[in-house]
Amino acid sequence: MIGLGLDVVEIGRFRRVLARTPGVAERLFTEGERAYSARFTDPAPRLAARFAAKEATMKALGVGLGAFGFHDVEVRNAPGGAPSLLLSGRAAALAGERGVTSFRVSITHTDTMAEAVVAAL
Ligand SMILES: CC(C)(COP(=O)(O)OP(=O)(O)OC[C@H]1O[C@@H](n2cnc3c(N)ncnc32)[C@H](O)[C@@H]1OP(=O)(O)O)[C@@H](O)C(=O)NCCC(=O)NCCS
Repeated sequence: MIGLGLDVVEIGRFRRVLARTPGVAERLFTEGERAYSARFTDPAPRLAARFAAKEATMKALGVGLGAFGFHDVEVRNAPGGAPSLLLSGRAAALAGERGVTSFRVSITHTDTMAEAVVAAL
């Protein structure tokens, strides 16, 4: 393992950001992430978890906010629900520079908190 990252997001706070900031969902999340989250009655926990996964990826790569765009890390879900990460752009380049060839991600959310852990391998 080259890096490990963990992040937790308070869903209530994140929900307020989504409601108050026009276009923020489009800026933070890919079309696929928004479409997946929109399948559920309340998309906010899923979106918050995906934001946590992007921040956990920054930690796993040893970088912070601004090192790559939010769309550079996409959470995808297999038909059975298992999540995976697809990196592109600057995030993929950073991973390559660090010798990272694959990632593992795990996600959980309750009514109030969303969390993600990412391993860079
Ligand atoms: C994985 C599972 C136990 C999690 O349930 P939970 O404790 O109620 O929910 P949590 O909030 O802790 O976790 C939800 C996250 O688990 C992840 N997840 C779902 N299915 C998964 C799986 N098969 N493997 C790994 N992670 C999985 C997803 O990332 C999901 O969040 P998301 O929808 O925002 O992406 C439950 O979804 C489950 O049993 N799924 C069926 C898995 C399975 O065996 N499928 C057979 C193939 S069809």
